[in-house]
Amino acid sequence: MVEGLAGARTLRGEIPVRGAKNAVLKAMAASVLFADPVRLTNVPNIEDVSRMAELLSGLGATVTHRGRALVIDPRGIRSTTVDRGISERLRASVVLAGPILARFGSVSFPHPGGDVIGPRPIDIFLTGFRKLGARVTVSDRHYHIRAPKGGLRGGDIFFNIVSVTATESLMLAATLAKGRTTLWNAALEPEIAHLAEFLNRSGARIRGAGTATITIDGGKPLRARGRAHRTMPDRIEAGSFLILAALAAKDLSITDCEPEHIRILVELLRDAGVSITAGKTSIRVRAPRRGKRLEGFNIRTHEYPGFATDLQAPTVVYLTQAAGQSAVFETIFENRLNYTADLVRMGADITVWDPQRILIKGPAPLVGRELEGPDIRAGLAYLIAAIIAKGRSVIDNVYHIDRGYERIEERLRAVGADVTRVES
Ligand code: EPZ
Repeated sequence: MVEGLAGARTLRGEIPVRGAKNAVLKAMAASVLFADPVRLTNVPNIEDVSRMAELLSGLGATVTHRGRALVIDPRGIRSTTVDRGISERLRASVVLAGPILARFGSVSFPHPGGDVIGPRPIDIFLTGFRKLGARVTVSDRHYHIRAPKGGLRGGDIFFNIVSVTATESLMLAATLAKGRTTLWNAALEPEIAHLAEFLNRSGARIRGAGTATITIDGGKPLRARGRAHRTMPDRIEAGSFLILAALAAKDLSITDCEPEHIRILVELLRDAGVSITAGKTSIRVRAPRRGKRLEGFNIRTHEYPGFATDLQAPTVVYLTQAAGQSAVFETIFENRLNYTADLVRMGADITVWDPQRILIKGPAPLVGRELEGPDIRAGLAYLIAAIIAKGRSVIDNVYHIDRGYERIEERLRAVGADVTRVES
């Protein structure tokens, strides 16, 4: 439940950013490639991490969670079948397919689920596994993939679409394939370079991660040798807090983050009139002087370093409060604007041009409503909308927010937002 600030700018203090969901889930999947236990730190306490831990336990790994540290011992893995029930709720489960196939020679997994933001096919993964010599069969929405005798072989893979998880899954698989693999048109997201650094420190030979061409010389199972891997900060959480600060801060600092990873958002907001001071690991936002208008801007979501689709929904909330007309073009996912109907119910002026394009006119004051979070990022956007609205809002289905953000209500309360969790 949220009591809105009715447009007042009162948030102050420091809000630290947790470790990145979309980095830690991949490091967890990578543990399958190891011959010894893997220790991850700065792990956020979020539902998706618990689901990935359950998937790994289901394979036979031992997963121990202590505070923000996670130890995964892969030595007990005997199964190569990824649990159906959990996978259907977690898109990141598909990243596990690459390492299981590479390490054990076969893998079975269902079509992965996740958010309701589009059809989310996995054709690119399957084409990639075939290029490494594997055979793919499908029965009852279950994929069965088998490596050739003697294991996966290095291959030349050109992705026809830039895909984050396909780049990661194939990079992981190639780490244990025989010979050299080259990934062309790979995704550039910082989580990929971060994953490659972790693997390289443990014996992998990956070059070019973070660029469009990645080469991997396959080898033996990796070894962590007791070294911990610290999860990078979550750039989407940082960006979402930055938007909240732009709308409601008196003087708020977002700490433990890497502003460089959200440079595009920082630049857009700064040009729009938001008072931002970015350091190396923190961003400070101060309220604009009285009477100063914040301006709108157009966005077109794009692969990194372009405008992240995961920041699109919170940014739309900002644009409802900014002066003028702003156009938003969601180019990555087909159904990632449906949530805007609820913002309209709160008072936003949004015209839907087509399923991937909207026009926003602002500023339009928002009023509290009962809302149901449809996915992680739209769920947090609703929370931001509720904090700046007039009156009370109730957000149902907070599981979606808990999937990606650790104890969000406590952290927002600590900087002055009136957010409480109501058990139902
Ligand atoms: C990752 O999803 C993230 N998920 C998403 O975050 C994020 O929105 C997305 O990248 C884009 O940045 C994880 O890292 C777990 P894609 P992913 O494959 O890898 C099409 C969140 O909120 N495609 O880069 O699934 C696909 O349909 C989530 O944390 C194919 O056509 O996204 C989309 O249009 C949501 N065939 C485009 O590629 C395929 O085989 C890019 O998606 C694979 C993808």
